[in-house]
Amino acid sequence: MLDGPTRGWNTWNNYQCDISEDLILEQARAMKALSLHHLYPYIVIDDCWMAPARSSSGELQADPIRFPNGMKSVAEKVHAEGLLIGLYTSIGQTTCEGLPASFGHYELDAATISGWGFDFLKVDTCGLTFDQTINPAPYYEQMGKALASQDRDIVYNVCNWGIWGPWKFARTFAASWRTTMDIFPTFWRVIQIVDFSEGLAPYSTLHHYNDLDMLEIGVDGTLFNWAWTPKISPLSFDESKAHLTLWAMMNSPIILGLDLVNLNIDSDIVSLLSNEKLLNLSSDPLQQPARRQLVKTTGNLFAPAYHFTGFLQMLPHICLSSDCTYVEIWTKQLEDDALAVMVFNRGSSGPRELKFSLNDDLHYGPCSNLDIEDLWGDGFKYNEAEKIITTQMIPPQGSTVFTLTPADASRCYYDGLNHIDANNFKLPSGAIFLLLVIWIISVNSIK
Ligand code: GLA
Repeated sequence: MLDGPTRGWNTWNNYQCDISEDLILEQARAMKALSLHHLYPYIVIDDCWMAPARSSSGELQADPIRFPNGMKSVAEKVHAEGLLIGLYTSIGQTTCEGLPASFGHYELDAATISGWGFDFLKVDTCGLTFDQTINPAPYYEQMGKALASQDRDIVYNVCNWGIWGPWKFARTFAASWRTTMDIFPTFWRVIQIVDFSEGLAPYSTLHHYNDLDMLEIGVDGTLFNWAWTPKISPLSFDESKAHLTLWAMMNSPIILGLDLVNLNIDSDIVSLLSNEKLLNLSSDPLQQPARRQLVKTTGNLFAPAYHFTGFLQMLPHICLSSDCTYVEIWTKQLEDDALAVMVFNRGSSGPRELKFSLNDDLHYGPCSNLDIEDLWGDGFKYNEAEKIITTQMIPPQGSTVFTLTPADASRCYYDGLNHIDANNFKLPSGAIFLLLVIWIISVNSIK
């Protein structure tokens, strides 16, 4: 088990049900060929692996066309590549794609999956009755016990979409729990998930993490261009960089979804995904997830707060003037009084540099001597006398990250948690709902 949240790859975001043994093996081999396997060791098969009916003795069985050699064989082949393997089921009668799932069979399915040699299990929420849906905790707990009683380590990922407080009920028995409904490949959605999940940071502890969903870096967004949604293009490089950085800073599992086979080892995306120092932020022994320390804004900005408005989180930040700035600073406490700092140009009208004071903005000091490491190599200036860092120009949706480490017996203390900025631009959920309705009507009338 990783000493931190799970990292790996999952079929769903890019392939949905279009999966097979060949696909899994090709992706596992590509992970290795790209030298990403030690960073992302779990290969996870999501929905649609199972046959439409259980076997005559009651076990789940592999879809005979997609996985003709059975699931044990896939697990063995993935293990032979030096990777770990994960599988999917649902806590209800059926999966979200209507296939057999685990309700009433938790012990049997845990034993079957363990017998096949799987190392990770994602358990969705589909297929419960209404009464069961509003109180899923006992079912998830039973599955947790069934998995814990197997004689192999199986990482238990609860996929309860954040709707019935899995951060409360699952934190004693699950390795991670989804905080929201599904992600999709657009940056707005990535940010909505971040906003919703930030306040859940206190529930995240060693071996028990808020899961912000699988990553959309490199996923073909055009798959999601349904008639009723605005047109989606894949995440840009800067958006991908912010996506990965936020997931690492917030101690979320990092489960990729892109096609690894067609990636060039020299591509920008591979070098982005290979940033081991960034990924290791989430296995820092202190296990503190990042918090939004402060928001710096200037000019004319429309930026509604999205906290806890669930599905209604559909509004972008809009700069209403050409000088508008909306930059956030996120901080993550690390062991030995070190601090990771992310500067995120969230919605400005153009590239921005940001100047921030370690004492006044971060509440981090006195630090007579500090090692500053620039994890993306973007560049910065440090005024040691005034303890002020100035970033390079950061493009909109761009980000940069530093770690600050006390050097030579210098002492640094962080008091930032007591100074976390509340979002300045709160709109009541009713207003957000009204704007959402207006937006849906206008999108539909433009067609
Ligand atoms: C739900 C989950 C997704 C994926 C699909 C599969 O929507 O939230 O992550 O597993 O089911 O059907």
